[in-house]
Amino acid sequence: MSLPNHLAIIMDGNGRWAQSLGKRRLFGHIKGVGRVREVVKTAAKLNISFLTLYAFSMENWMRPKEEVKLLMNLLIKFLKKETRELNRQNIRLQSIGDTSYLPEEAQTALALAIDSTKGNSGMVLTLALSYGSRQEITQAIRQIIIDHKNGGNSIEEIDEAFVNNYLQTAGMPDPDLIIRTSGEYRLSNFLLWQAAYAEIVIIEKAWPDFVAEDLVRALEEYSSRERRFGKTSAQVCEQSGQGDIRELN
Ligand code: FPP
Repeated sequence: MSLPNHLAIIMDGNGRWAQSLGKRRLFGHIKGVGRVREVVKTAAKLNISFLTLYAFSMENWMRPKEEVKLLMNLLIKFLKKETRELNRQNIRLQSIGDTSYLPEEAQTALALAIDSTKGNSGMVLTLALSYGSRQEITQAIRQIIIDHKNGGNSIEEIDEAFVNNYLQTAGMPDPDLIIRTSGEYRLSNFLLWQAAYAEIVIIEKAWPDFVAEDLVRALEEYSSRERRFGKTSAQVCEQSGQGDIRELN
C-alpha cells in the first residue's frame, strides 16, 4: 500500500455529533480530542512523515465566546498532557497559523510543547491553529513585496518554489491526502495553495466517531487512486517503471 508522505485532516462534525445525541456542542469537542490522540498514534505507527490537523481556523474565532474558550482550554490541556506522549513516540510538534491570537496560556503551552519535542526525528505533527489559507497567502504576498522593496529579491526570481518559501508550511512537502470528516465537500480555507494536487477523501462519519480503522480505510482508498499530476495514465506508469499493462492487450 502506498501511504501519503503528508496526511492532512479537517476534523469536522464535533458540534453536530453532540447535538444529534441531545448534548451540547462542547461535548463533541471533548470527544474529538480523544480522536486526535488516537489518530496521531496510528499515523506515527504507520510511519507517516507529516500529519497536519486543522484544529482551529481563523474563522472559528467568530464562534460563541464560550465555545472558543472551551476549545482553547482543551488545546492547553492537550498540549500539557500529551507532550510526554509525543516525546515517547518521537513526534515533533509544530504549528501553522497566526498563534498571536491565542490566549497567552495557550501560546505558552504551545511554545513549551514545540520546544520540548524539537529534537524528535519521527513524525512531524503540525497543528493548524488560528490558521487561514487566504490570510497565509496574503501575508506571503506582503512579505515578498517588502523584501522586493528592500532589494532582497527580483521579480524574475518569483516562481512556485519561491512562493512556497514564504508560506507557513515552508520546508514541508505538500499534502498528498486530505481527509475531511462529517460528509462535507469543502476545503474551508485549509492549505489552498498546498492542496493543488492532494487527493481528497470525504468520510461521512463525524470526527468524534472517526476511529483508527476509518483512517486505515481512507489510506486504502488513497492507495487505490492514480495520481497523475496533470499527466496521462500511460506517462505515469512509464515513469514508475511499470509500463502500462493496457498496452500489452
Ligand atoms: C469542527 O467541528 C471542529 C473544530 C472546529 C475543532 C477541532 C478541534 C478538536 C477536534 C479538538 C481540539 C483539538 C486539539 C488538537 C486539542 P465543528 O464544531 O465545526 O462541528 P460542526 O460542523 O458539526 O459544527
